Order: sequence, then structure tokens, then C-alpha cells
Amino acid sequence: MNPSNSSASPAPKPPRKIQVSLGERSYEIVIQEGITAELGAHLARLTKGRKTLVVTDRNVGPLFGPALAKSLQQTGFSGSLAELPPGEGAKSLDIAKFLYDRCFDAELDRGSFLLALGGGVIGDLTGFVAATFMRGIDFVQVPTTLLAMVDASVGGKVAVDHPKAKNAIGAFHQPRAVYIDPLVLGRLPERELKAGLAEVIKYGVLDDRAFFDFIEANIEKLLKKDPEALAAAIEKSCAIKARIVGEDERERDGGPRALLNYGHTFAHAIETCMNYQGYLHGEAVAIGMVLAADLSVQQKLLGRGDADRIRALIEKAGLPVKLQPGDPPSDELHAATFRDKKARAGKLRFVLATAIGATKVFDDVPEDVARRVWDRGRV
Ligand SMILES: NC(=O)c1ccc[n+]([C@@H]2O[C@H](COP(=O)([O-])OP(=O)(O)OC[C@H]3O[C@@H](n4cnc5c(N)ncnc54)[C@H](O)[C@@H]3O)[C@@H](O)[C@H]2O)c1
Ligand SMILES: [Zn+2]
Repeated sequence: MNPSNSSASPAPKPPRKIQVSLGERSYEIVIQEGITAELGAHLARLTKGRKTLVVTDRNVGPLFGPALAKSLQQTGFSGSLAELPPGEGAKSLDIAKFLYDRCFDAELDRGSFLLALGGGVIGDLTGFVAATFMRGIDFVQVPTTLLAMVDASVGGKVAVDHPKAKNAIGAFHQPRAVYIDPLVLGRLPERELKAGLAEVIKYGVLDDRAFFDFIEANIEKLLKKDPEALAAAIEKSCAIKARIVGEDERERDGGPRALLNYGHTFAHAIETCMNYQGYLHGEAVAIGMVLAADLSVQQKLLGRGDADRIRALIEKAGLPVKLQPGDPPSDELHAATFRDKKARAGKLRFVLATAIGATKVFDDVPEDVARRVWDRGRV
């Protein structure tokens, strides 16, 4: 899986394309092995602007930046590269300010665009700067983690963090295009890959039983980074997210976008109580999905057999399925679910499964039932 070798492969596979239909804000997600090194040609067809700032981090930049920069130069683009420290800390107003300075240094104007090359941190931050610089300029997503490919890069939610809350300062700003190169995952640490697989499994549970079956049948291949299996899983995940975002761009009350938060009410409570330490987001979501399946069983919406299947697949993906002894106590975690932004007017709101592949939002879950699920989530 070396992206620099991809151009030498005998028969290039046709790209997989998914349309995100949002009227004049519509865009395409293109999945193709080796696309990072050919991005200039794609961008030249997409935009009239020829000036760009590529935003990346210090892990990703050295790996994929040179091939990307060469392709941009060869197709007549000019601009510069901003390489930021890796990690969530970069999603700050201070770093956004640094990027505004870099945009001015690069003499970007309203016809220019930003290019996010990295994981969800880089995508969210770059999108936020693009949404606000000169009241909004174009940006393009080139996600390099599985989580960013299947989730963060699609849907237009962009943000930086505030010391008081994650993603608190943000906007809806759709990218002009998303270019996904499954080969770049060859360099992604295993733990990050598994965290992305949690969101892939989420799509199967929330929307598509046949896709859940596919993940179950291909989990070993996915863990071994088999490019075909990965491309198929990314395509289906993006198609599900694209369809839901197309129906409900701004997450209106009662709209289907809330379903994308399956497992996330529990996950956010875990992350908040643990101060975003210990678990990666995808790992917290993995536990959250098991808890949500169990709560679905308690509410007599889902059979125990289906809940066991969900848990078994998450476990096979090498993800945690229960809280650990040192994790925060149940009372604390339960209290935090009320602070989650999905809780409305003190009522608990959960996305629950009515089958594998079908979910609905419920706000009538009795508090004591939800509270007990935290205890059950330790065994
Ligand atoms: N906007 C949305 O809808 C949305 C959805 C989900 C998550 N998010 C956001 O996404 C962020 C998390 O994203 P993430 O999990 O991608 O984390 P990340 O961006 O921090 O990337 C994880 C790590 O992997 C490294 N990395 C990235 N690509 C690599 C590659 N190909 N090879 C080797 N190393 C690589 C990065 O440098 C980093 O150290 C959070 O801030 C979260 O809030 C946003
Ligand atoms: Zn998530």
C-alpha cells in the first residue's frame, strides 16, 4: 500500500463516485486509489481558482504532501502549505487565526480555495477557516483517516473547539468536493483504523442490514487494510451519510441526521467525563453502540440476538465493548448524558435500534432504565 507505486499498477480501477445532493451546494465524493498524486487534474476541472493553501499536520504532510504539491504545480496551481502540530489541540481559534494570516500571506482571494489534507481535525479546522475567511471561500477535503473518510469530511459540519466545549464554534460549510485515496490508509496506525471502523459499523446498524452483513463477512480483510474491501466500505458509508445529509443538511429537530448519532449520546458522556483522554472517539462510540443496543433490548425494540451480533462485530473489529474498571462511575456518566446537546429540556434523547439496519429517535426512555444500562455496560 504505497501511494507512490500506485501509478505503476497495470489497470487503474475506475473511481467510485457518490453525489451529495444539496442544490447549488451539491458535490461529489470521489474514491480512487492513488488520487492524491493526481489531484491537480481533478481540481483544475472543479474550480477556476488557481491559488490555494494546503492545510495538513506534521504526520500527514511529510507522507503525502510532496506528491500532492507536485500534482498541483504541474496543473498550474500556486500556493503554500501550512503544516500544523497533530492532534485535537489544533482545532482552536488561535490556530484558525494563524491560518487566516497564512491565507493573507498566500494572497488568497474570494476565488481561491483551501485544501484539507489530513484527519478530521484538519478537515474541521480548515473548513471552519474556509467558512469564515472573507465571509466564506471554497474548500476541498482530502481525508486521510478512515474516520475522516467515512464521517468528518462529508456533511459540512466544520468547527473549532472552545475550552468550555468541543466543536462549540462552528458553521455549516459544505466542501466543493471530497477526494478519497484508500491507499493512504496504508500508513494509518492500527488503532486509528479500528476507531474509523466503529463509524463504519455504525452505518450498518443505523441504516443497512446488508451492509452490516458485508462488514461482518469482511472484517478480517478490513483489518488487514485490503484496498478493495476498504473502498467498498468507504463507498457504502459515504453513500448512507450523503443520503441522510441530503435529506437534512442542518440537523433539523426531528430530522434524520440525528440518526447518525447512534451510540453517540453514550460516547459523548464517556468522552466528557474522561476529559477526552483514554479512549479515541471511535472507541467511545464502540462502547456507546453496545450500550445503545442493550438499551434498545431493555425497551423491547430489539431482540437480544441482534444486540449480541452488534457486540460481537464490534469486538471482532478489535474495539472495546464495555467500560473498564478505572472508568468513571455510572452516576457520573448518567448525569453527563443530560448535558449532551442531544438531550432536550432535561429529557433523555437516544437513537435506538429497532432492528439491525433500522434506527429511530426516542425521547421517552425512563431515566432508571438508562441509568442501569451504564452498570450493565461494565460486564
Ligand atoms: N465534521 C464532522 O462531521 C465530524 C465527524 C466526526 C468527527 N469529527 C472530528 O474529527 C476529529 C477526529 O478526526 P480523526 O479521528 O481523523 O483524528 P485526527 O485528525 O487527529 O487524526 C488521527 C491521527 O492520525 C494521523 N494521521 C492521519 N492520517 C494519517 C495517515 N494516512 N497515515 C498516518 N497517520 C495519519 C494524524 O496525524 C493524527 O495523529 C475530531 O476533532 C472530531 O470532532 C468531525
Ligand atoms: Zn462519531
